[in-house]
Amino acid sequence: MTEPQTEIHKGLAGVVADYTAVSKVNPDTNSLLYRGYPVQELAANCSFEEVALLLWNGELPDEAELADFQALERAHRALSPELKAIIDALPTTCHPMDVCRTAASVLGAEDPEAEDPSPEAELRKAHMLFAAMPAVVCYDQRRRRGQDLVEPRDDLGYSANFLWMAFGEEADPAVVEAFNTSMVLYAEHSFNASTFTARVVTSTMSDLHSAVTAAIGALKGPLHGGANEAVMETFVELGIRADESHAEAEARAKAWMEEALAAKHKVMGFGHRVYKHGDSRVPTMKAALDRMIDHYGRPELLGLYDGLEKAMDEAKGIKPNLDYPAGPTYWLMGFDIPTFTPLFVAARITGWTAHIMEQAADNSLIRPLSEYNGPAERHLPGGRPVAQ
Ligand code: COA
Repeated sequence: MTEPQTEIHKGLAGVVADYTAVSKVNPDTNSLLYRGYPVQELAANCSFEEVALLLWNGELPDEAELADFQALERAHRALSPELKAIIDALPTTCHPMDVCRTAASVLGAEDPEAEDPSPEAELRKAHMLFAAMPAVVCYDQRRRRGQDLVEPRDDLGYSANFLWMAFGEEADPAVVEAFNTSMVLYAEHSFNASTFTARVVTSTMSDLHSAVTAAIGALKGPLHGGANEAVMETFVELGIRADESHAEAEARAKAWMEEALAAKHKVMGFGHRVYKHGDSRVPTMKAALDRMIDHYGRPELLGLYDGLEKAMDEAKGIKPNLDYPAGPTYWLMGFDIPTFTPLFVAARITGWTAHIMEQAADNSLIRPLSEYNGPAERHLPGGRPVAQ
């Protein structure tokens, strides 16, 4: 008699694990809604602060709610001396995601309400993480460059202040807008690997900072958030040459892609577990990249961008994901490549914490089953002496 076959959902592909009211990804229509609003509309019309409030509260804020949140957020941007000292103690050889992960954990240890699971305390903790993470990211990038910390400014919005802390000068409004767009697009994406990680940790009734710390670990991987760095490394490997035509750059990129695919390499920045006909966020981010290419006068990037995209489409019909246009956009703005995934962290703090609160509000321990395929039951040889 044959054993009944258990259906294995490798990678949980196709498994619907729970309800969520935070966002809806629709691969058939290539659409992404945050609390019902198309993400493209939000990116074009809202600040990241407004989108964060929408994700947490379910509704866009009115003027007074936004002003209250902005005042709170601006008052909590600076890092404690203790956190700065801990960041200083980390070697600059470690990945900046290790610094983010450590900082999220320290921010929990420092938070007097860390163990308070009430919805009010959870929301306040989410606000504090949102406010502090940009300073973590910028401080780390600056110390690696041997530069002094730039203190936050309370007269600038989230994105303008982020760029101020990173580079020590006020960014052009066009750059602030493109950065805001990237934050909005990176904010939330249903049950992706890091968000699901955060929900698993929350389901054990652990605390919010533990869930965010674990989520940062999941995001670090190149199959997830780390892809935006890997995309730019591909561009750098190809060589960004100001002296070649679009057609020449495109041809080089196509040849590189053909070789990579022939060698069966996964090319970062392409493909998606849910979207199979293109990522809904790419056109908006690509438009922001195009504006940044014009702003910084770097048209030579486009030949490489188009060449890789076309070659992948022709060979496998696989489309770019959000990381593909986001990587070169952050590079043009002047961020170091290993800082790209930490930028994603700063954005996704919003989605993670919205999901953590949703999970906690209607919790069930997340604990799937597995089908055992190891050795059949066996026994120690008789008379085996006990190790001393
Ligand atoms: N480069 C080359 N081939 C790819 C690919 C990529 N980026 N993404 C998918 N494929 C191919 C696989 O090799 C496989 O081909 P095969 O059937 O001939 O073996 C097929 O497409 C299915 O891929 P699979 O990895 O099983 O799909 P998935 O749904 O598990 O993968 C990703 C989704 C995101 C993990 C995958 O597309 C990937 O690794 N992309 C690169 C990393 C990345 O950009 N991540 C950011 C996601 S937002």
